[in-house]
Amino acid sequence: MSETIHRAHNFNAGPAGLPLEVMQQAQAELLDYKGTGMSIMEMSHRSKEFEAMLNETEADLRELLNIPSNYKVLFLQGGASLQFSMVPMNLRPAGASADYIVTGAWSKKAVQEAQKLGPTRVAADTKASNYSTLPASLDLDPKAAYLYYCSNETIHGVEFFQEPQPPAGVELVCDASSDFMSRPLDVSKYAYLYAGAQKNIGPAGVVVGILREDLLARVPANLPVMLDYKVQVENNSLYNTPPCFAIYMVGLVMKWIKKLGGLAAIEARNRAKADLLYQTIDASGGFYRGHAAPEARSRMNVTFRLPTEELEAQFVSEAKKLNMIGLKGHRSVGGLRASIYNAVELSDVQALVEFMKEFQKKHG
Ligand SMILES: Cc1ncc(COP(=O)(O)O)c(C=O)c1O
Repeated sequence: MSETIHRAHNFNAGPAGLPLEVMQQAQAELLDYKGTGMSIMEMSHRSKEFEAMLNETEADLRELLNIPSNYKVLFLQGGASLQFSMVPMNLRPAGASADYIVTGAWSKKAVQEAQKLGPTRVAADTKASNYSTLPASLDLDPKAAYLYYCSNETIHGVEFFQEPQPPAGVELVCDASSDFMSRPLDVSKYAYLYAGAQKNIGPAGVVVGILREDLLARVPANLPVMLDYKVQVENNSLYNTPPCFAIYMVGLVMKWIKKLGGLAAIEARNRAKADLLYQTIDASGGFYRGHAAPEARSRMNVTFRLPTEELEAQFVSEAKKLNMIGLKGHRSVGGLRASIYNAVELSDVQALVEFMKEFQKKHG
């Protein structure tokens, strides 16, 4: 007898839904990982089974993203937020300045951390548009140690589809937490790129960092070990006990992406979901209003508003009754937000747009 599994239409912004197949595999291996008689979270991170899994996860990541051989892959802790400090600590040499593009809440937090630690310039800030646009122009310092940006602002729902162009000799650094591996990416354009796993590639607890090797020459000698990229590189991310289970889950998600056909296939899937949702918003005659300007619309976090806050609250609560979870906008901006990361199926978005149409008929 087949059992029906109760799974929500999960539109959470992160931690977010994981592919059902991945969850089922984790469940099947939970008590006995590959005949070891224990879970991957119960074994030594120095065991050959764990190291094999770590190395395979890295190899799959490298294959999917086509990461050049002069880049190191790191599995880090402290969340993406710790990278706000580690980036300037490691990559901005003493006395040098760094440029930041501020397009929403996360790049704002990053620039604030960088300012605490040394010379920092704001190359653009789209606050005037309430973080609904991409910058029209950049005020760039040709001597900056790096140019920093956030490729997808999770809260405001604004995404760059083309990386900003730094001046010659200025390195590009990116927080890709909420659109990492949602589409192909040219790693060679970056000095350093990082992403918290908990949106597109796994559970919370691990950050993937991709660092061009020569940048290690910038790392100062006296950093606390846990904040030092060089220490992490030299120890294959095993300087201390890593987030074992989270890395294992990332490994399973990599296999799932490969099975679906890689990042080009993932992109096509994500595009179809986002197109359907934005078309529904645009066809509503103003009942639903997208927050982001059309050219800046995120394919991961679709932010929108209704005519009144009361209707927004009602939308969230009626959706919940239909098993659609996570649609309330972030507390800092209000409104609604549907996060449609890799693991969200087109059928989830179809259910949402059907509900949106019904809701409009009733209340529009
Ligand atoms: C784009 C972006 N950067 C950074 C963060 C912070 O991540 P963490 O909670 O892992 O520190 C988030 C979290 O949602 C995010 O969306």
